Amino acid sequence: MRAGTPALLPGMGREGVRRPGGAFPLSRGALLRTVRAMTPNRRRDFLSLKTPLLAVLAAAALAPLTVCARSEAPVPVAAPALVSGLAKAGTPEALPTPEAERGALKFLVMGDWGWVGIGKRPDARPGEDEENRVKTVTQVVVARAMGEFAAARPVSFVVGVGDNFYPAGVKSTDDPRWKQTFEDVYSAPSLQVPWWHALGNHDYRGSVQAQIDYSKKSSRWRMPARYFTFSEKSPAGVTVQLFVLDTSPFAPGLHNAKHSDVAAQDTGAQLAWLERELAASKADWKILVGHHPLWTGGVRREAKETELAQILPPLMRRHGVAVYLCGHEHDAQHIERDGLHNFIVGNAADASRPTGATAGTRYADIAPGFARVSVDAERLRVDYVDASGAVRHTARIERPVGAVAR
Ligand SMILES: [Fe+2]
Repeated sequence: MRAGTPALLPGMGREGVRRPGGAFPLSRGALLRTVRAMTPNRRRDFLSLKTPLLAVLAAAALAPLTVCARSEAPVPVAAPALVSGLAKAGTPEALPTPEAERGALKFLVMGDWGWVGIGKRPDARPGEDEENRVKTVTQVVVARAMGEFAAARPVSFVVGVGDNFYPAGVKSTDDPRWKQTFEDVYSAPSLQVPWWHALGNHDYRGSVQAQIDYSKKSSRWRMPARYFTFSEKSPAGVTVQLFVLDTSPFAPGLHNAKHSDVAAQDTGAQLAWLERELAASKADWKILVGHHPLWTGGVRREAKETELAQILPPLMRRHGVAVYLCGHEHDAQHIERDGLHNFIVGNAADASRPTGATAGTRYADIAPGFARVSVDAERLRVDYVDASGAVRHTARIERPVGAVAR
């Protein structure tokens, strides 16, 4: 696995440049036509991955999307345009050897992932069912990439940044979506580790309590409450504490009957809890996790859905927190402002929305994938990895982080 060098496919030249007359093995349109032509039983088997060959073809169909995105010219940081590909090129670095990072705490981050099992929608707008099928296949392809990555470089746990089940969460702990969307998709042996999950806005359209209660039923699903904290220690003894927030109550636009009891949640109590827990923490590293971003250059950049950009940065500075992991935008973005890093990792399944740059953008891309975080005593490193296993962007944050700009 080498940084920034996705595998080339037949018909492709270097770095996403298509050779004259070259043809991709299976286009996105051809994939959709293939799925549509299947009998209902075969389609069900395909979407539930009982036909490995077709899943491989699906991977081949999606890989050109990943590779071709690299060929688009980066736009300047302040450019207003949204692009359907790479809006701001990253700075990928080669991963250390597994031996060199043996003492570090390593975990994966993924978000906006829960499409498998969404099925045909009676209220779908024209084309939506086809789009959902592509997202379904993309989720499976990224899940396989996560499994392969973690097999080569084991991780201690996975962090999910929310929107766990589209379009409307789960109904109960017995909902078939648990098996369809989570258990059967992230089935690689390397992914049988704790999965700590944040809640997203789509999860509030179903039973939030069921997602909490499933923690007691599953050997790896972890959501002890709507917001919570947990700590891990690296093999070398470095402590890392993550604080997982419930950001939907901070979005007034969600305070309606469609989103169950979101309006009843006490954001003041949540912030008081966070302040208290951060102050009490003795961890070497503190990391915040939430669903809604602080800042974004993507499709929601003018949306102003929450006031988190006003609320969280002062709190992060007070307590030496430099990292916020989130999703909601269906893309990959690293935005740094005054020493605070907003990592959007919402690209586990959907690559259909454009993205763009904003103040502080270091990387913005729609290539499907996930992130890997590695923490040791001196630095925290985030690598954005695409569905081919290539690193597309690397960020390093050095300790001490207590000195972030005030
Ligand atoms: Fe969301």
